Amino acid sequence: MDRFQILGGSPLQGEVSVSGAKNAALPILCASLLTAEPLVLSNVPRLRDVSTMKKLLAQMGTRIETVAQQPDGQEQLSLHSDAMTHLQAPYELVKTMRASVLVLGPMLARFGEALVSLPGGCAIGQRPVDQHIKGLAAMGAEIRIEHGYIKAQARRLRGARIVTDMVTVTGTENLMMAAVLAEGTTVIDNAAREPEVVDLARCLVRMGARIEGAGTDRIVIHGVDRLGGAQHAIMADRIEAGTFLCAVAAAGGDVVVCQAQPDMMGATIEKLREAGVLIQEVAQGIRVVASDRPKPMNFRTAPFPGLATDMQAQLMAVAAVATGTSIITETIFENRFMHVQELRRLGADIEVDGHTAVVKGGAGLSGARVMATDLRASAGLVIAALVASGETEIDRIYHLDRGYDRMEQKLCAIGARVSRTTEKA
Ligand code: EPU
Repeated sequence: MDRFQILGGSPLQGEVSVSGAKNAALPILCASLLTAEPLVLSNVPRLRDVSTMKKLLAQMGTRIETVAQQPDGQEQLSLHSDAMTHLQAPYELVKTMRASVLVLGPMLARFGEALVSLPGGCAIGQRPVDQHIKGLAAMGAEIRIEHGYIKAQARRLRGARIVTDMVTVTGTENLMMAAVLAEGTTVIDNAAREPEVVDLARCLVRMGARIEGAGTDRIVIHGVDRLGGAQHAIMADRIEAGTFLCAVAAAGGDVVVCQAQPDMMGATIEKLREAGVLIQEVAQGIRVVASDRPKPMNFRTAPFPGLATDMQAQLMAVAAVATGTSIITETIFENRFMHVQELRRLGADIEVDGHTAVVKGGAGLSGARVMATDLRASAGLVIAALVASGETEIDRIYHLDRGYDRMEQKLCAIGARVSRTTEKA
């Protein structure tokens, strides 16, 4: 299992580039199931979750080729789902990555059947998929849960009006992908407005889908008989970009985060400005300058355009070194404070009461051995380690590799001291 060793205390300086967004790449890879023609994707980030999704699609019969290695290390892929052999997503893969459930909508829409494992437990919360199932049933699918699997069948899905009980990102994406090939019009109300949903819609439209309102809470999809091949570039990762902004906010320095798109990061930028960090829109992306310790900030996570739950741990690391007390409330997941115990090992003063964390800045952090527990928790620990005095060792870095492309190389290029140790099993 890989570990990071981080020597804290160096300010960050220079330029860093953001890769393609994990949470856009995963549904868009699944969109290749909707057509028998090739879907060619660029800016595909090199992440463990992307490899897992490629493995799942390949196992189902999608032919995946690397068309080119981009100069920035990302890949251009061609996905060709013309001869599918297994319309199934097995437990072994779904349990390692919940986003595997995104094959359900497209498989059912194009082939009329799907067998997808129920995801089961998850570190950050219960995360059921009842809304995905409810929406597909409203579109006429017959769905049974058998032996831990979602077994879905439909001769052809029919358009329907669906109101989701809560805002769900992958739920909206699954239903949108199902609706593009349904007969008639589907309306998804209370839809997720996340930029990744919009990027998926953009790709689907390139493939011939008729979608209106992506990016609002009402998405209207007029079903078509078939979709064709297309080319699409995955949007830049706003969470990776936000993670670099937080790293500079905590460690200090002056960095340009290239490809970062400020219009998708409004809530994070606003919080960091409240913390006294200078954030400027520049031609390449976002320039972030931090010369003093951050000021405290209060926030609640919320669906887009609110503050992303995927930024909570990184902002908490900033709050841990701020000059006063911050109050942070997590509203999306029930158990997304697992980084708190580990931040405390670095000297952070954090009390948790239910969904709220009270973070008292002031005390300096000092390096220690800590353990990554999930993807964004790991990013929070890396940020705290960049400021802590002495050396921090972070175990279980595989969590970080799920969603960050070569994080240590990118950080070292802007002056951080991070090294990876690979232990052979
Ligand atoms: N929910 C239900 N029933 C459902 C669907 C969702 O109760 O059928 C609940 C969830 O349990 C949660 C809330 O609704 O409490 C929102 O969950 P959502 O469905 O939006 O989450 P998701 O689609 O499973 C995506 C991202 C997550 C991100 C969340 C929230 C992908 C592949 N994953 O998950 O990303 O935290 O939206 O923005 O897009 C990450 O990248 O680290 C990550 C966890």
